[in-house]
Amino acid sequence: MKVVVTRQIPEVGIELLKQAGFETIVSSKDGVLTQDELKEFVKGADAILSLLTDKIDASVLDSAGPQLKVVANYAVGYDNINIDDCKAKNVIATNTPGVLTETVAEHTIGLLFAVAQNISQADKYTREGKFMGWGPMLFLGTDVRNKTIGIIGLGRIGLEIVKRLKDGFGINFIYYDLKRNEQAEKEFGVQFVSLEDLMKNSDFVSIHVPLTPETKHLIGEKELRLMKKTAYLINTSRGAVIEEAALVKVLQERVIAGAGLDVYENEPKLSEGLAQLDNVVLLPHIASASFDTRSKMSEMAAQNIVAVLGGQAPINPIV
Ligand code: DGY
Repeated sequence: MKVVVTRQIPEVGIELLKQAGFETIVSSKDGVLTQDELKEFVKGADAILSLLTDKIDASVLDSAGPQLKVVANYAVGYDNINIDDCKAKNVIATNTPGVLTETVAEHTIGLLFAVAQNISQADKYTREGKFMGWGPMLFLGTDVRNKTIGIIGLGRIGLEIVKRLKDGFGINFIYYDLKRNEQAEKEFGVQFVSLEDLMKNSDFVSIHVPLTPETKHLIGEKELRLMKKTAYLINTSRGAVIEEAALVKVLQERVIAGAGLDVYENEPKLSEGLAQLDNVVLLPHIASASFDTRSKMSEMAAQNIVAVLGGQAPINPIV
């Protein structure tokens, strides 16, 4: 059976596929396949190991052919896959939940501290030779301890941030989600609030919802203007949850203090004006990028393919 992997990923998953006896073809392109290249590349595949940068829709599934059984996404987010198209064609779709939770939570915390304490701006300043000696007013930032952090989406990653910061930093956690998590409220003292109250009362707002038609532009100009002038917005989920042009506008107008972004509405493009701002930290979608975690994602995606092509149930089906 033939498995196609749309880009080089950590070897462990590729090895697993080869050991299972599949003809495993990894794209040799150093970059994302165009939609036409993707359609050509998947022809005749029984399984596709896809990335979040691959748009998997009916045209790609058709191009693969009727023998296609599974699309295993190398990501927990799957907004790149048209699940209805997969269902209509009896193709199982899987993702990689759980294995990246802690890494993304740690990274989000790092980004939060980076924006609060001007870490990347100060690093740039120092490298540029501008450091002329200690200064009493140089890069004054914001303390994180005893502040209110508002988590939008108290799922696996949101909750992991709460667990890691609740003791030691004296953080007051509030959250907004479509579903209340009363267990977490009791166990960790997080308080459920409306989205409006969360935006108004948080010193840091951190977004952890998947991108769906319901969450697209969940945070627009109206919501951003509710935030404190001293507050920061952090996003390590999906860019399009925020209306990026509106964010640029409020950052330019100093309506909020700053933002830390790992994801963008139209990756890899940034909205006009974003890169010129001095009150943002901008990262290239790397929140899950540790050697260990990316290897686990590779392994998990491959295990799903091995299961499905071996006639077993998928381990991590997307429902
Ligand atoms: C995911 O898995 O959805 C992340 O965005 C990339 O690792």
